Amino acid sequence: MKISSIIQAVILSACAATPLLASETRWRDCRTCHAVTAPDGTERARGGRSGPNLWGIANRPLAGDSDYRFYSDDLRLAGQRGLRWSEDNFVAYLAEPTQFLRAATGNRQAESGMHVQLRSGAGALFHYLQDLSQ
Ligand code: HEC
Repeated sequence: MKISSIIQAVILSACAATPLLASETRWRDCRTCHAVTAPDGTERARGGRSGPNLWGIANRPLAGDSDYRFYSDDLRLAGQRGLRWSEDNFVAYLAEPTQFLRAATGNRQAESGMHVQLRSGAGALFHYLQDLSQ
């Protein structure tokens, strides 16, 4: 193998790994408050308990962790309206949680109980969480 093709192979494998590494890094911004815990109690990603468990978040109803007691009324209301965590909803929520809830509930006074924003990489993080929930 020529040196140039070795370098190319290394660059290609580094690119393939990037989305996963980026998501693992982003997850550090979430795990203070969130864990990913399987129904049998296995911790797929360790984290805090002040936010809901993000196990199976893909396509889950909003405010859908039945063990979590601290949901805001507005997130619950949006869930009762039948909204689910599609990738688009997840990305929009993380970009502007309060704006997302105002649009989702039609209530201009709605306030998110989560005061964290993620303006890039949320789509990849959604897939990362989906993989952890397999
Ligand atoms: C400081 C604590 C904290 C951090 C950090 C945090 N969250 Fe949250 N998160 C919360 C709380 C509290 C709620 C519940 C909000 C509500 O009820 O309005 C929540 C709700 C959510 C929900 C809705 C879950 C459901 O069951 O409907 C998602 C999705 C979410 N967070 C993703 C993330 C992601 C991804 C990150 C990292 C980029 C993150 N959060 C960082 C505290 C946090």
